[in-house]
Amino acid sequence: MKGIIEATTEKYISALLPPRPPVVREMERYARQHDVPIVGPACGRLLYQLARLIDARRVFEMGSAIGYSTLWLARAVGERGTVYYTDSDPANARRAKSYFRRAGLLNRVRILIGDALESLESVEGQFDLIFNDVDKRQYPKVFSRAVPRVRVGGLFITDNVLWAGRAARPAAPGDVPTRAIQKFNRLIYSSPKLFTTVVPLRDGFAVCQRIK
Ligand SMILES: C[S@@+](CC[C@H](N)C(=O)[O-])C[C@H]1O[C@@H](n2cnc3c(N)ncnc32)[C@H](O)[C@@H]1O
Repeated sequence: MKGIIEATTEKYISALLPPRPPVVREMERYARQHDVPIVGPACGRLLYQLARLIDARRVFEMGSAIGYSTLWLARAVGERGTVYYTDSDPANARRAKSYFRRAGLLNRVRILIGDALESLESVEGQFDLIFNDVDKRQYPKVFSRAVPRVRVGGLFITDNVLWAGRAARPAAPGDVPTRAIQKFNRLIYSSPKLFTTVVPLRDGFAVCQRIK
């Protein structure tokens, strides 16, 4: 997908990234060939790093597709950690499961098929980290449902908050995804419960820490 960073800089960052395990490379290849909008290796590393920084053990992901971002998070949570994978497409879940098995990480992942917001309601307790990458029109609703489920000190992270630059420009009345992202961005910056930074990597990653 087209991100917001200038192409030469994007290429430069990409060339600096250390080699990834073969399963991860295969997922990247599959995503490229089949137009699956994964976060990619630079943001995958950021997810991994942020999860490690807060010593995350219990992670919930909303919108997991073939499990690429899930896999980065599963590596980060360690042997006793758990990552909830959610996707509405059973075919995605089957493919993701085979990647988790091959990566030796299946025992850290719980696979939930169906609407991610409903799946979140079906699992009790709080999370160290929630990663949101569902349908962009749902972002404001995700804000209200997910933030209370992150423990104080934990992270609520969201992909695509710059939306290929469209978030920064006035949106047409019918452009529902852009309007939803703009509303979401206002919510995460104005919430007294969150301390927010948008990292303009790839398509914009919102990193919000729950502070109360
Ligand atoms: C952008 S992709 C996720 C990519 C993944 N996070 C990664 O980086 O590897 C979005 C996925 O979310 C799923 N999805 C969108 N809205 C959803 C919802 N409300 N509940 C469950 N899955 C949803 C779609 O089927 C799609 O596979």
